[in-house]
Amino acid sequence: MTTPADHTATHEPDVVEFFTDPEFVRDPYGAWARVREQGPVVKGRFVDGSTIWFITRHEEVRSVLNDPRFANNSTSVPGVEENERVAIMRHFGIPEEYIPYIADSILDSDGADHTRLRKLVSRAFTVRRVNELRPRVEEITDRLLDELPDTAENGVVDLIEHFTYPLPITVISEMVGVPEEDRPLWRKWSHGLISMEPEAMGNAMRDMVDHINQMIEQRRSAPSDDLIDAMIQVQDEDGTKLSDVELATMILTLVIAGHETTAHLLGNGTVALLTHPDQLELLREDESRLPAAVHELMRWCGPVLATRPRFATEDVMVGETLIRQGERVQAMLVAANHDPRYFDSPERLDITRRPVTRGEQHVGFSHGAHYCLGAALARQEGEVAFGKLFRRYPELSLAVPEDELEWEQSPGMRRLARLPVRL
Ligand code: HEM
Repeated sequence: MTTPADHTATHEPDVVEFFTDPEFVRDPYGAWARVREQGPVVKGRFVDGSTIWFITRHEEVRSVLNDPRFANNSTSVPGVEENERVAIMRHFGIPEEYIPYIADSILDSDGADHTRLRKLVSRAFTVRRVNELRPRVEEITDRLLDELPDTAENGVVDLIEHFTYPLPITVISEMVGVPEEDRPLWRKWSHGLISMEPEAMGNAMRDMVDHINQMIEQRRSAPSDDLIDAMIQVQDEDGTKLSDVELATMILTLVIAGHETTAHLLGNGTVALLTHPDQLELLREDESRLPAAVHELMRWCGPVLATRPRFATEDVMVGETLIRQGERVQAMLVAANHDPRYFDSPERLDITRRPVTRGEQHVGFSHGAHYCLGAALARQEGEVAFGKLFRRYPELSLAVPEDELEWEQSPGMRRLARLPVRL
């Protein structure tokens, strides 16, 4: 066991540089399994060379994510005035006037601010509200599946382009109230934002924020029945509850968080089922297995590999490691979801795994106060999409060998650039 005193001494050679090491992109499961077996808290280096502590095991991941002493916003640390995300945005050359639109998001808020923002939108994402949407999700899915054959080139269809992206972006855009014709723009901005390329990020931020602000202006004079309106109404009733920047930031967050992730659950999950025909067969035999299957796919190949960094607001012991006030930790969901201390044979994809109860849970949607707001929606989209895709195209197969699939260079996400299949 590592003690605070010997940590630096024994772990220095093992500092993990996952942001730059291509092995973590090629095989995140294997790479993180090795890190996890070094210890529950492993020292890493952040892009700027500073220290970050990776939390690797299920128990410690849950405990850190449930611990209010770890904050999402660095300014919650006593004595820290600069929001680290602002510093990162500056580093990437994002124009100053657009930075608050990232820095003021629900994901970057703590305590009372976080509760206030979350309450504004949480009602729209409850299981009951999401269930009411199901017929519409089914309709959109059916339409996209109908259109798939028309998109084939030499008999090959790219499911990412024509199915896994359009489905969630259409669903979340309708909920939020983003016009149909704008959807390709969102796809482009979303790509720009996660590209880690300064110019693309800056351009995407500028275009997106300008566009949202124009949209809000138009909507103030022509209301309809969606989330944007609900939020505008809150503003009209009590201007202190939601600032203009917060309103635009919430729209931006919901649309980006609501589609980029789900698209890759659908992509990763489709590959997993196609490469595990026994599991696909189990699903086909009995579609009531769909909800459990989606949970298992989230565990086994969920698209979000890590939470955002959290900051220690005071000195905190995690297991036997001392995290000092102001230091960063990052919960490695991918490592926790394959932790053999918690899951039986975690490397095995098993859609009949014990139903998820309070006692056995993956952390693919995070845990604690920032637990994914859209989890019920994402799971439902997964159930509808996998159910209908494999029923509609029973002969579906990969059009390239599995080891030729193109995984994108994205340290925090497991995502495919393309998913070529034959129908
Ligand atoms: C937060 C994953 C779909 C909206 C999160 C977090 C994770 C996550 C890991 C927490 C990050 C952290 O703690 O640092 C996923 C995955 C999805 C998905 C894997 C799909 C498979 C969605 C959808 C929406 C959404 C469909 C639509 C509204 C949000 C929001 C937050 C969030 C608003 C911030 C919550 C807060 O800070 O309180 N998601 N998400 N997500 N997600 Fe999702």
